[in-house]
Amino acid sequence: MNILVYIALRLQSYYLIYPTETIISLEANTKGRKADLPSPPKTVSLPINFWDMDHFSTFIAQVQQSLQAKTFVKLSLGNYKGSENELKNLYVKAVLIKRELKLSFTYRYKTRDITKNYSIAEGIAAVESQLDASGFRAATLFTTEENLSAQLSNKGDWFTKREKPTQLKAESHSHDKEKSRKLQATGKTYLQALRLTDAEGNVFKNAQDKWKQINHYIELLSSMLKELPSERPLQVVDMGAGKGYLTFALYDYLRHELNKEASVIGVEYRDDLVTLCNQIAADSSFTKLSFVQGTIEDYQPVGAIDVLIALHACDTATDDAIFKGIQHGAELIVVAPCCHKQIRREMEASKKQNELDFLLQHGIFLERQAEMVTDGLRALILEYHGYQTKVFQFVSDAHTPKNVLVVGVKKTITPQRQQEIREKIRTSKSFFGIGYHHLERLTGLEG
Ligand SMILES: C[S@@+](CC[C@H](N)C(=O)[O-])C[C@H]1O[C@@H](n2cnc3c(N)ncnc32)[C@H](O)[C@@H]1O
Repeated sequence: MNILVYIALRLQSYYLIYPTETIISLEANTKGRKADLPSPPKTVSLPINFWDMDHFSTFIAQVQQSLQAKTFVKLSLGNYKGSENELKNLYVKAVLIKRELKLSFTYRYKTRDITKNYSIAEGIAAVESQLDASGFRAATLFTTEENLSAQLSNKGDWFTKREKPTQLKAESHSHDKEKSRKLQATGKTYLQALRLTDAEGNVFKNAQDKWKQINHYIELLSSMLKELPSERPLQVVDMGAGKGYLTFALYDYLRHELNKEASVIGVEYRDDLVTLCNQIAADSSFTKLSFVQGTIEDYQPVGAIDVLIALHACDTATDDAIFKGIQHGAELIVVAPCCHKQIRREMEASKKQNELDFLLQHGIFLERQAEMVTDGLRALILEYHGYQTKVFQFVSDAHTPKNVLVVGVKKTITPQRQQEIREKIRTSKSFFGIGYHHLERLTGLEG
């Protein structure tokens, strides 16, 4: 793999039969290729001395060859010296898009990423044009056989170095982390307005976690939402909607992915957020999505509630939300509780002496215990009211410690089981020294 290969690539128009049977013409590589590219950051190409091209050409040819031989893992470019503000790196991976192999470029800026996909020929031409004294001065090609790095010296000479491969298996080419997501980021006015993506649908670097969280949440709800009746319009209420990230995503998923005739209402205390969200809903032409200002306690739905959501509504606001769901016969109730002050205060005040009191001398354990007792009792109270309940972690601890989801699906319950639950609630409260649980009081179970 050397200068001869490079010359062959540059001077000839020839075809490679790709392993996927895709025929890739390299002709584009030699014809006005920079002008054809969807504007990668501009670099000023210095004339390359033919005799210096040995290492450089070897590198480019090796990229080409690894793609052909399916040993290509990824390519990273660094040490950027160009004029593009805040550009740091360029990462290239191979992806299958509509069954065609492409090169996906991620331009990593200080605070955001921009992704662009190119055909193989365009992509290789783009890499070539980016490697320059006034562009990226270093690159590493990762293949399953070796890592090949190229470095431009201050004198303008390219040097390459071969090392053992760090990855022995080629990446799957399917484009599919993004594809397997329940929602796609492109073409979504609301994601742009909520500052999660740019105009082209690229998720900002600092919004990646939020975007993952939104998709994970939709994924968790997906099977339950699919089970909802489809013969009538559904009413979904999101209590304590905040800035509406999840409310918008839920609406988008229900209406545009599941094709459900659903209207979604976000209830939010803060006036500014309600105004902002209603504006974004109007700009997105989401005609069945609206936000109302008010408290969860005071909210009175028009008609039934089919789905009640409350994510991170503080302390007893979660109980108020669950109560609204029970009161209005919601088929599905999903809450991610926030803080658990009411039960914690009860436990602290009673200082109950029992086998577990040694744990509760420590603030952190008291907090965790209060959380488990609060949410455990919520699950029991939901069950009492005929909901099949599940409690599970919904995002990793790395994102937020408020990561428990309590889900209730409306079923039926026997009077005998209700009796058992009442007894369980009574003994648990006594054991932990709790006078009352806010949801118990709201639903008339106290006593
Ligand atoms: C932590 S934010 C969560 C926002 C959103 N659900 C999410 O998970 O991204 C809680 C929101 O609930 C609102 N909130 C809290 N208690 C409320 C109540 N009793 N009535 C209405 N809104 C409430 C707050 O103003 C805040 O915007």
